[in-house]
Amino acid sequence: MRSIDDLEVLGRRVLLRSDLNVPLDLTGTGEITDAGRIRASLPVISKLSDQGARVIVLAHLGRPAGATFAERAAGGPSLRPVAGRLGELLGRPVAFAADVAGPSAEQTAFTLGDEDVAVLENVRFEPAETSKDDAERAAFAQRLARFGELYVDDAFGAVHRKHASVYELPALLPHAAGDLVRDEVMVLRQLTTDPARPFVVVLGGKKPSDKLAVIGNLLGLADRILVCGGMAYTFLAAQGYEVGNSVLEADQIPAVKVVMEEAQRRGVELVLPVDLVAATHFAPDAEHSVVPVTDFPADREGMDAGPRTRALFAEKLADAKTVFWNGPAGVFEFPAFSAGTRAVAEAVSRVNGLTVVGGGDSAAAIRALGMDESAFGHISTGGGASLEYLEGKTLPGLMALED
Ligand code: 3PG
Ligand code: MG
Repeated sequence: MRSIDDLEVLGRRVLLRSDLNVPLDLTGTGEITDAGRIRASLPVISKLSDQGARVIVLAHLGRPAGATFAERAAGGPSLRPVAGRLGELLGRPVAFAADVAGPSAEQTAFTLGDEDVAVLENVRFEPAETSKDDAERAAFAQRLARFGELYVDDAFGAVHRKHASVYELPALLPHAAGDLVRDEVMVLRQLTTDPARPFVVVLGGKKPSDKLAVIGNLLGLADRILVCGGMAYTFLAAQGYEVGNSVLEADQIPAVKVVMEEAQRRGVELVLPVDLVAATHFAPDAEHSVVPVTDFPADREGMDAGPRTRALFAEKLADAKTVFWNGPAGVFEFPAFSAGTRAVAEAVSRVNGLTVVGGGDSAAAIRALGMDESAFGHISTGGGASLEYLEGKTLPGLMALED
């Protein structure tokens, strides 16, 4: 895997894939609630620019819906405010193109001077970026490739996606891995190469279908898996518990059952919440109370781990020698429902060993809770990407950088 230092970037247009997929305010104001991924992207942008490159940043934001560029652009989210924040943090002007591969992008790309930085609009506004059709992605990659003379992938958080800007584009240009991608891969390699035991994995977050598949494979690596956050409700439902209006992926229940049986067979301890904070509805000020998982009210929604669960998880982390934590334990963005995530974060920070926090949301949580980032061994910018790496999967974005 080549690094930036192997490229001659002076005076050349570099298409840089960054992960600027920052969390936006949950109540819909569009405000950037954590700029961690923007900050993590700064070193490589600065480095390329300092070396005289003409930097064209490609990035996605959210999962825009719609069949065409126009529909997606109308629905958003636009990368424009993110580009604005990037410029502020970088301390230099950043140009913005209002499309991805159209006239604005073309005009922007070909008028850049040495050391200039530009950001193209949300690459997922082009449906071909994420198309399941290989030919569509390849054709879109060709349209992007004409803007650049070199390609650098620094978007660690997206290397598990077989998307045009991640997978097809590098094949069309001389390419290298950015420093962030290289650093992240180095830490993950450490986790998978004879980790000190017990190795405890904490999984939370609200995208259970993204994560259920990987748990099965983590059973071969971890000694103990603690499940919390939104995904826990599917596990609890699989055990026959009422979960009220909590996030639930009912179609995943059979897969959850298989994972639970497999854990038992392999002697991996799978730990679920024993109590929860249940609210009347999803709002920062919703009325709420602590309930045992055995007695969840049918008209309430789970928002956080309860106090007995927090103590249980802390106990299960206390003797760990290696920890990987992905996904918050509750809706930490709302202070009333942040205690579970804080308890997990504190327990992880007390561990005497290698601790890796994976994922945009858990990393954002650590900062939102005002915790000291240096109390953790490594804070990864990639959630799904680090999980899939741990799973032993071949990641399309890394494979594309290999040759
Ligand atoms: C992330 O947020 O995990 C990465 O930016 C990838 O985004 P995605 O899960 O929407 O593909
Ligand atoms: Mg994510």
